[in-house]
Amino acid sequence: MLKTKDLTGLCNISAGEIDEILTLAASFKRRIKAGEKKFSDLEGRTLVTLFYENSTRTRTSFELAGKYLGAHEVNISASSSSVQKGETLIDTGKTLDALKVDFIAIRHPMAGAPHLLGRTVRASVLNGGDGMNEHPTQALLDMLTMRETFGSLSGLKVAILGDIKHSRVAKSNLFGLSKMGAQVWVYAPRTLIPAGFEQLGAHVARSREEAIEGAHVVMGLRIQLERQSGGLFPSLSEYSRFYGVKEEMLSLAAPGAIVMHPGPVNRGIELTPGLIDGDSSRIEDQVTSGLCVRMAALRLLCQYREKNSL
Ligand code: CP
Repeated sequence: MLKTKDLTGLCNISAGEIDEILTLAASFKRRIKAGEKKFSDLEGRTLVTLFYENSTRTRTSFELAGKYLGAHEVNISASSSSVQKGETLIDTGKTLDALKVDFIAIRHPMAGAPHLLGRTVRASVLNGGDGMNEHPTQALLDMLTMRETFGSLSGLKVAILGDIKHSRVAKSNLFGLSKMGAQVWVYAPRTLIPAGFEQLGAHVARSREEAIEGAHVVMGLRIQLERQSGGLFPSLSEYSRFYGVKEEMLSLAAPGAIVMHPGPVNRGIELTPGLIDGDSSRIEDQVTSGLCVRMAALRLLCQYREKNSL
């Protein structure tokens, strides 16, 4: 069982809790792959997805996770809600509490918004991405796909190449993978490596080759054009030429290495189409893992709520 009401980040949960989520998610994944879509774990509960930023994978998979588990499910888009009339996040949360909502999956451009909401509401809050801070369920789904491929996360070398500075995915993977005994290597232009990343446990490679050599996982990250204030690298074509990952580079990686990307992908920028669509790619499997990890997180938070009479 999880030890907290909310799932806001991987920096504040234990290796044991991560293992519990992944084990339950793997069991849901076997059943989902066998065609099951009807579970009763969340019967009578209500899930709201509250997204202040665009999303395809995270929002859809939270919605389907709730539906498959038997919950009532409602989606609120910031663009069509009373947020547009100036309502604060806390007042929105209090409104959802008054409607007896049990779970709120939130994506917000401000780092810390899910933590603030979680401290304010009775509902359990699941972080679907907060600014440049964390995206815990993305890292959990990445870890599920890695663990299913290699049997264990301990001892893996995971190379993450792309926009590390603006990436909540990189941070959550660094926190989660380090706790599970994997090594995280990053490579990007120095302007896209956040200060202090090495102090958090990352290895900063001096070249693409150093990052990829012996890696079990080669993960591309999207260049986040919407978060760039400009001037961090000269052009997309130069980025692709000097920092993108190409098929031939995979020969440097460990035998059986896999290619991952959280999506959405800028095709031909972070990874070549041959890598995205090739045999080593696990990008579609990541999406299935996302559904199952979110089902597991909801189920375990539900257990917490039952035990604590919430
Ligand atoms: N990986 C991810 O968060 O994708 P979406 O933005 O589509 O949710």
